[in-house]
Amino acid sequence: MKAAALQQNQHHLNPRTRKLVTYTLFALIPLALLHYYLLVPYPIPIPASTSPSHSQSQIHTTLNPSSSSGVLSHDEHDAVLQPPLKELENVQNQTLPQCDYSSGQWIPDDRGPLYNGTSCHTIKENQNCMAHGRPDTGYLYWRWRPYGCSLPQFDPSSFLQIIRNRHVAFIGDSMARNQAESLMCLLATGSRPELVYRDSAENRYRRWIFRSHNATFSIYWSPFLVKRIEKSEKTGIRHNRVFLDAFDERWINDFESMDVILFSLGHWFLIPGIYYENDQIIGCHVCPEFNHTEIGFFEVFQKAVRSTLDEVRRRHVEGGDGQRERLVAVMTFTQAHFEGDWDKAGSCAKTQPYKEGEVEMEYTTGRMRRTVLDELERMGAHGSRVNGLHFQAVDVTQLAMLRPDGHPGPYMYPDPFGNGKTGDRVQNDCVHWCMPGPVDTFNEILWQLVAQTALFS
Ligand SMILES: *[C@@H]1O[C@H](CO)[C@@H](O)[C@H](O)[C@H]1NC(C)=O
Ligand SMILES: *[C@@H]1O[C@H](CO)[C@@H](O)[C@H](O)[C@H]1NC(C)=O
Ligand SMILES: *[C@@H]1O[C@H](CO)[C@@H](O)[C@H](O)[C@H]1NC(C)=O
Ligand SMILES: *[C@@H]1O[C@H](CO)[C@@H](O)[C@H](O)[C@H]1NC(C)=O
Repeated sequence: MKAAALQQNQHHLNPRTRKLVTYTLFALIPLALLHYYLLVPYPIPIPASTSPSHSQSQIHTTLNPSSSSGVLSHDEHDAVLQPPLKELENVQNQTLPQCDYSSGQWIPDDRGPLYNGTSCHTIKENQNCMAHGRPDTGYLYWRWRPYGCSLPQFDPSSFLQIIRNRHVAFIGDSMARNQAESLMCLLATGSRPELVYRDSAENRYRRWIFRSHNATFSIYWSPFLVKRIEKSEKTGIRHNRVFLDAFDERWINDFESMDVILFSLGHWFLIPGIYYENDQIIGCHVCPEFNHTEIGFFEVFQKAVRSTLDEVRRRHVEGGDGQRERLVAVMTFTQAHFEGDWDKAGSCAKTQPYKEGEVEMEYTTGRMRRTVLDELERMGAHGSRVNGLHFQAVDVTQLAMLRPDGHPGPYMYPDPFGNGKTGDRVQNDCVHWCMPGPVDTFNEILWQLVAQTALFS
């Protein structure tokens, strides 16, 4: 059964069948893939002939020691300095209030990206498509044009001005990290960040400060937002255990220091998991070996988002900050662009965006997006704010869906077709984004939303 065909058919099925098909789809095809690109923060190359399940277990033993030492090389500190852009007199002035950035079209733009694969040092190896020999560059020359308004080109100085003396935290899975690293590349074109913290092994937690503005940016690994015990292929545990009514202390203990919080999550809910409430198992997903109820992932995703947003509000209100301004934003889900087999050359080989109507939103994607929008609505995202607490959706589902050309594909590793390699068997990443690439647009929108909430004057 081919993934693409299945996904197209979902549209014509009744909701109940559709739900089942969705589970089946995610149970079969992308699992192998997700093991690689979502579960392992820093996957390492494997020989093209090794089988996926086998190599997964080797990951921790074969990590390059120098890259896991926690000691920063000179390069990692060293973001390229460029002359600062003219500081804007009035940040608010360049925003168009009430713009709906979620629908629009990609239009050609010959200005190109602000940074490249050699000028920025926070690009994760697997997303540095340029450095890995991706031959086409057309995907870099598109600009998102929302209907009815415009999205200004990213301005690092303006963003840093708003974040002066503040702390922006990206919390979530590898999509959160992808976006945070893009933001660091964009900002580094205007001012120099200093990496002040990094966890030793896997780059799951990092913090930078722009001394020029005393602006702090952090990444927190938390793929479910709530408390979890992660699967461990090494010890044969293939299910994550997720506690829907308990919190992930690693980030929530720092909540007080955060002024802008960006949650980005979703993909980890699609893989095998066992779900708990009140320390009781309420069900599981992809778990034929257990006698638990298969509960899919939509409801547990909603619960995780809801309990997190509720807790954030509770802490904000009880924090006794009075009118302290805080923005809590959630990214909407972005769908993968695999066509056919995930481990063959050409899995996501398109070199141009789709035009509107050329591709259909998958049922799962639409429902994951809707969940985030509904939960934010419930928190009053579009209404009055509680004691200075703002909620916002960063609705990128549509614009991301139109960018099959923006993924690393085989260029997640250097020179995938060199040395006589045929591409018969090659790993593809059609989930994350090349840097530079469409993910930079996510941050342009984030910038506008931060500015528009008029948080920090
Ligand atoms: C935008 O800038 C112009 C000129 O700099 C100023 O007259 C106007 O009041 C500003 N608008 C807002 C909304 O601040
Ligand atoms: C990348 O950017 C740097 C600095 O702007 C520039 O010197 C270099 O030529 C660029 N490299 C490529 C491959 O475009
Ligand atoms: C720097 O920013 C932090 C928040 O990230 C703030 O707590 C601190 O007071 C700021 N320092 C100065 C000197 O303003
Ligand atoms: C599985 O669960 C059902 C319902 O809770 C129970 O009736 C059945 O005996 C269980 N089967 C096994 C093998 O534990």
